[in-house]
Amino acid sequence: MPDPAERAAELRRLLDHHNHRYFVLDSPEISDAEWDAMLAELKAIEAADPSLVTPDSPTQRVGSAPSERFTQHEHLVPMLSLDNAFDEAELRAFDERVRKVADGEVAYVGEPKFDGLSISLTYVDGALTVAATRGDGSTGEVVTSNVRTIKSIPLRLRTAVAGVIEVRGEILMLRSEFERINRDRASEGLPEFANPRNAAAGTIRQLDSRVTASRNLRFWAWGVGGGDPGFGTQSEMYAWLREAVFPVSPDVQLVTGADAAVAFVQEWDGKRAGLPYNIDGLVLKVDDRALQASLGSTARGPRWAIAYKFAAEEVHTLLNEIWWSMGRTGVATPVAELEPVKVAGVTIVRATLHNTDEMRRKDVREGDTVVVRRAGDVIPEVVGFVPSKDHEKLRKPEPPRHCPVCETALVRKEAEAALRCPNRLCPAQVAQRMIHFVSRGAMDIDGLGEKLVLRLLDLGYLTDLASIYRLSEHREALVELDRMGEQSVSNLLAAIEGSKGRPLHRFIYGLGIRQVGEATAYELAQHFRAFAGLRQATYEELVAIPDIGPTTAAGIVEFFQDEENSRLIDELFAAGVEPPEIEKAAGDGKFAGATIVFTGKLERMAREDAEAMVREGGGTPAGSVSRATTLVVAGPGAGSKLGKAEQLGVEVISEDEFFERFGL
Ligand code: IVH
Repeated sequence: MPDPAERAAELRRLLDHHNHRYFVLDSPEISDAEWDAMLAELKAIEAADPSLVTPDSPTQRVGSAPSERFTQHEHLVPMLSLDNAFDEAELRAFDERVRKVADGEVAYVGEPKFDGLSISLTYVDGALTVAATRGDGSTGEVVTSNVRTIKSIPLRLRTAVAGVIEVRGEILMLRSEFERINRDRASEGLPEFANPRNAAAGTIRQLDSRVTASRNLRFWAWGVGGGDPGFGTQSEMYAWLREAVFPVSPDVQLVTGADAAVAFVQEWDGKRAGLPYNIDGLVLKVDDRALQASLGSTARGPRWAIAYKFAAEEVHTLLNEIWWSMGRTGVATPVAELEPVKVAGVTIVRATLHNTDEMRRKDVREGDTVVVRRAGDVIPEVVGFVPSKDHEKLRKPEPPRHCPVCETALVRKEAEAALRCPNRLCPAQVAQRMIHFVSRGAMDIDGLGEKLVLRLLDLGYLTDLASIYRLSEHREALVELDRMGEQSVSNLLAAIEGSKGRPLHRFIYGLGIRQVGEATAYELAQHFRAFAGLRQATYEELVAIPDIGPTTAAGIVEFFQDEENSRLIDELFAAGVEPPEIEKAAGDGKFAGATIVFTGKLERMAREDAEAMVREGGGTPAGSVSRATTLVVAGPGAGSKLGKAEQLGVEVISEDEFFERFGL
């Protein structure tokens, strides 16, 4: 009889090996039955002696009972987005921008852009400890127990790295699995998922990881975040990821120069449908990581990578009706109500006509057969009508003169294509502003969705943004609302309370200032650090901030000069909303006031990451040792800087001591 602990370890190793053969390499060496038998044996050993269960045991992939709501996880390195190119010219323009910084032709790694949800996997000393969604880019939701059920994700790295490393990639659902799940859901009378991406996202945000385990999700790695051990090229990073053992797309290809990059994306036009999962484009990344570092990033995404998006899909369908939707800023937008039609895997029932001018220009009318286009996440739009003999007989649509909601006369500014309802207290605007304020990218009030906002406005429990924070006064009445009940009201009120301290950038975004999207809100928060500064900012101050143009700056000033807005903000603060000030550049101020020099070879992190960490913690990374230096972190091969530090009496510590001292 072998020792149970040894046998368990051996079984784990074997199961991991066969898992990898099956899920990653797609070439199994044993039958499913043999695999099941090994798993059963391991389960039996662990059941007999629970102290033998390890967190990375394959038995831990099966999922566990519902957990509480997801907790938050701060990414070591933010998860950025990508800039897009929609055609050859835009791709060539990207290459030109890169070549301004590089010498000569540039080598790119070309790869599929997986249409799934991004995930960051944190490994500590080689073991998977946290899996988190992208979230707002800096903080995501912890979905570890669900991610553990994905069999192609290693629970332990084969090529272990000491310390922390964040592996990033995309979680996908195969189209076949998506169809299977939807068939099941339809037969159970449940709503179907719109597309494989939504199905994958819904599966990962399941509270019950047994459900996640029952659905076949895939993972493709496309990068490393924090703890990068210093790969010289993107290709080296992929080689390491493969060894470690993550699935990396077999379609990754190295292409040199703009012509080769263009040829690469063109080749994919025909190949795309052959994949068993959806991709929504291709990504080109500068291979040389030193060049990546010199190109840097904007708030939105790296300057060294671009997403080449496939041309949108177009379909024909009947336009049943045109109506006018009243938005958050009072703009009336013509909306086409369509005969339901499937485009790019999604059923569409309505599409935008953008504005009155566009609608007239396209000359679409109720009763036309129209061309509808949907590209990626973009709202579907009506492109035009399909010529027919009946078209001329149809009535031309007339824009309304009055707001369909509050009946105020609509106005149109000379320079604008938009028709606007000037009544800021119009119930439609109030509702849309509120829906935006509580949404995920803004104050993220869980449980207060669009339907409930509309209902509570209707009942008069909500009136303006500040009234959200007075909802607790209506606790009894809320409990009585059908489908609410004690528990969900408690959860809702707790979520409202919890939103009072949301980060500054989310609060700014939530205010719904025209032109201020999530990225701009983030820039503003980082620049002003406290709301008061932004509120008083002048136009000149605002345009001086990188990425803030004249229109945005003017919009911001106008917003804060408005008395109604001022009153609203005061009321929010009076109700207890208090976005915390940003103390330091970001992070927790661990390195406040310290000037730190890294010298020699760092083994646990890349130098750039170490420096970024210091910066984020409020310190200053420096290149040379002086009297102002607080600390020198020295690795193997440290040279003259060490001598200088000794001469000046500056403290020198090792990389390990650095990790320990700062609790990293
Ligand atoms: S690289 C800083 N590579 O697309 C580098 N992203 O639109 C950022 N995505 O947030 C990403 N396939 O979730 C990269 N091969 C790929 C990708 C990929 C899909 C997703 C990713 C990213 C989003 C940006």
